[in-house]
Amino acid sequence: MATIELRQVEKKFGDLHAVKPMDLTVHDGEFMVLLGPSGCGKTTTLRMISGLEAVTGGQILIDGRDVTWAHPSDRDIALVFQFFALYPHLSAWQNIAFPLQAEGESRVNIEKRVSEVARMLGIKHLLHLRPKALSGGDKQRVGLARALVRRPAAFLMDEPIGALDADARETMRAEIKQFHLTQNATTVYVTHDQIEAMALGDRIVVMSMGVVQQVGTPAEVYYDPANLFVARFIGSPGMNLVTGGYADGVVHLPGSNPYPVPPAWNTALQREMGSEGDVIVGFRPEAGRVTGTGPLVAEVYATELHGAYTVLHLSLNGTVVHIRADRGIDYPIGTAVRFDLDPEIVRFFDPQTEAALRLPFDGAQDKAQEPALRRAQDTALTGGSTNG
Ligand SMILES: Nc1ncnc2c1ncn2[C@@H]1O[C@H](COP(=O)(O)OP(=O)(O)OP(=O)(O)O)[C@@H](O)[C@H]1O
Ligand SMILES: [Mg+2]
Repeated sequence: MATIELRQVEKKFGDLHAVKPMDLTVHDGEFMVLLGPSGCGKTTTLRMISGLEAVTGGQILIDGRDVTWAHPSDRDIALVFQFFALYPHLSAWQNIAFPLQAEGESRVNIEKRVSEVARMLGIKHLLHLRPKALSGGDKQRVGLARALVRRPAAFLMDEPIGALDADARETMRAEIKQFHLTQNATTVYVTHDQIEAMALGDRIVVMSMGVVQQVGTPAEVYYDPANLFVARFIGSPGMNLVTGGYADGVVHLPGSNPYPVPPAWNTALQREMGSEGDVIVGFRPEAGRVTGTGPLVAEVYATELHGAYTVLHLSLNGTVVHIRADRGIDYPIGTAVRFDLDPEIVRFFDPQTEAALRLPFDGAQDKAQEPALRRAQDTALTGGSTNG
């Protein structure tokens, strides 16, 4: 068990600033996910924690001990990568037992731990087979078992299930979560898949171009994205983001759509932007509510039945938004639909800085906004630095 602390850790490859100075604390037993698009610096960050990559600046502490220049083998961590190379001439059991034998573990303990991890990953019946007799997914499980069988202070995983097909990924995602819940080992897990990040993470570090955009729980990055990048990257589809002119408590959205700003947010908008100016209104598809009387009106552009619900694509004079509606709903293209936004989960962004506006912390706002306020505050405290 361990805490991992990054203090102003950065990495340059020549002219390329792959990871800009980054602060991060991973708590003991926490499952922390590094999430972001290809090339944003996830693997580089993980490799610096492991010691496989030297830092260009900053400090790395594991359990308070400065390991910035310690050898990877002196950090008591286990690395799990996307591609596991199994020893072809050894059985699955021997492959999994290998790291324990190398550590000089007793035969009894090896039997016990291999059996435990094999049960957890559902491969007990395959232990006598050699790799060439295993399916791709089962090879991956054996590889994962070989990494998980150790009891290091922390696990570092780089897209460990990225190469599997969708079904196998979903199953193994649950197995990894199950393993974490039973072992409670500090874990840093890299993925570019936001659904995987939301499903697994206690907290998520959202990165873009070497910069930490936000650190927060899945609910925080989903409902209170720190900026437009996070709002777009998290969710499928991402958050609807519509620019409008703000004046006197109303945002004028495209297509003659005056949207009255919820009272708690109006104070924040006035404080940030004075009496008027452009603002971006952000809302998740489920924040839209089709009602006969909502303040907004848009034209149906497309409808998609996703089984449990329908996604309505609505055009506000050419700006298309997605709204999740009842699965029974099926409007002809071109129908005018009235809708409202759930005031609890609507958000506002500054078009210049791309940062989310925050509710004022003076306690004067509507009681109903308190959970959102607390979330925003936590996010601010955990240091969600924004893109400059
Ligand atoms: N050894 C290296 N030498 C030079 N540039 C590198 C090296 N390793 C990584 N980079 C560059 O650093 C940036 C960050 O790379 P990194 O592998 O950390 O990204 P990533 O977030 O893991 O992306 P992916 O999702 O594609 O794995 C990229 O622009 C990459 O090309
Ligand atoms: Mg990578």
